[in-house]
Amino acid sequence: MKPQSSPIIISCRNLTKSYYKGDTVVTPLENLDLDLEEGRFLALMGPSGSGKTTLLNIIAGIDSPTSGTITINNQEISRMSRSQLTRWRGKSIGYIFQLYHLIPVLTAYENVELPLLIQKMSRSERERRVLTVLDLVGLGDRMSHFPRQLSGGQEQRVAIARALVTDPMILVADEPTGDLDAASAQNILSLLRQLGHDLHKTIVMVTHDVKAASYADFTLHLEKGKLIESSPL
Ligand SMILES: Nc1ncnc2c1ncn2[C@@H]1O[C@H](COP(=O)(O)OP(=O)(O)OP(=O)(O)O)[C@@H](O)[C@H]1O
Ligand SMILES: [Mg+2]
Repeated sequence: MKPQSSPIIISCRNLTKSYYKGDTVVTPLENLDLDLEEGRFLALMGPSGSGKTTLLNIIAGIDSPTSGTITINNQEISRMSRSQLTRWRGKSIGYIFQLYHLIPVLTAYENVELPLLIQKMSRSERERRVLTVLDLVGLGDRMSHFPRQLSGGQEQRVAIARALVTDPMILVADEPTGDLDAASAQNILSLLRQLGHDLHKTIVMVTHDVKAASYADFTLHLEKGKLIESSPL
């Protein structure tokens, strides 16, 4: 029996992004199309400088396309103003970075709590959410630790909890295991896959590592500004 398809959550049409520096124009994304179904885990690969981070940042509403459209959950985010986009991003996107980007003077608990402080929410609801996500990533017993008292893998778990605490529709991750040893990397990738599945999150992960990509449901390669299904050898 054919599995039932989920609704499309991310849709890009003719997406083009150019950067201008003096007389030089760089166009990492050129008339790119993408349709991603809700709840899927996509790995994005491609050579250095091919535009992976650029695409991730456009999906996350951090950057805007030069032309073309991007629609997420039926909202055309490429038409939003800066302030609309910032508000939308806070509710809709969880971002996971290669180098975790935790605040060194805050504990694991406080780092995870941070994105909730700009939302209207009671203190008890905030506490409930932080404890729930710290438990989900297996760090319930480390919440009073500062980042320097954690291993790289544990720091990335805190960063995943911070990305999840606002209950976003989409998680984006830019080389989330690029700085980890093989065992910790596998650990983080299994966790991401499991959380995506259990919480029905859509995940877009950039990686250079074929093994990391194998944790995703499928892989797309960025080449010459477009997405293709598999890289020609
Ligand atoms: N803010 C910017 N200003 C000017 N050029 C930029 C900017 N951001 C990215 N670029 C250029 O766009 C191209 C794509 O960059 P991007 O960071 O998306 O590549 P990438 O695929 O993520 O590479 P890597 O694998 O090395 O992280 C590069 O040529 C880069 O120099
Ligand atoms: Mg990059």
